[in-house]
Amino acid sequence: MRKPLIAANWKMYKTISEADDFVKQFVPLVKDVTDVDKLIAPPFTSLNAVATAAAGSGIIVAAQDVFYEEQGAFTGEISPGMIKDAGGTFVIIGHSERRQYFHETDSIVNKKSKAALRAGLGVVLCIGETLEERNTNRTFDVVKRQIAEGLAEFCEAEFKDTVIAYEPVWAIGTGVTATPEQAEEAHGFIRSIIKEIYGDLADEMRILYGGSVKPENVDEIMASPNVDGALVGGASLDPQVFSKLVKFRRG
Ligand code: PGA
Repeated sequence: MRKPLIAANWKMYKTISEADDFVKQFVPLVKDVTDVDKLIAPPFTSLNAVATAAAGSGIIVAAQDVFYEEQGAFTGEISPGMIKDAGGTFVIIGHSERRQYFHETDSIVNKKSKAALRAGLGVVLCIGETLEERNTNRTFDVVKRQIAEGLAEFCEAEFKDTVIAYEPVWAIGTGVTATPEQAEEAHGFIRSIIKEIYGDLADEMRILYGGSVKPENVDEIMASPNVDGALVGGASLDPQVFSKLVKFRRG
């Protein structure tokens, strides 16, 4: 049984005090929901504040990126150990905004993932095609390459601490959501690719959907058998709205 995971990606939003306020409002709203894992990924500056405010709540605290070296002359970068030190236990890697604006390649994504897992962090590895790739029938090729290269040389233990987030780039922040059929088709394909590489471990891997998930569409998206959760941007910034996503209707 795969436990659903609903994850908030705050991107470059919220000061420390705003992050603290959010958690203080959010924790009581979801305290009775024990059959869903909840994750919050604030900006680095609020990581420790969120970890402190969420202590004892069971909420997973994640960073939105990480560098693959443990320390050194890498101005502006943050290491896996620093994330752990700040109270994070997970990290989002390879988000399409990182790939698009910061030129992250599959090989960088793989190095970051391996470094994070080596340090004992869980990983949410993001994949997904652009509109142009979908319109030219390359969705499956792109997703297959991102999985094969992103997960390259993962051992079984590393694989177990990894969650995949399928986020079609054309659905992120656009208000356009993949239909449940499109999401299920992609998620089923992703699981089949993982199965080819890792066998039955694929059945345990959580695959999240991301891209304009909101209270109005979360139930139908979560009803797809291969969708195990959501990675949410815009609708994760308000504690009331995000709590509605955590309380999606169980099938
Ligand atoms: P969105 O972002 O929910 O605002 O579309 C999702 C994401 O980028 O993870």
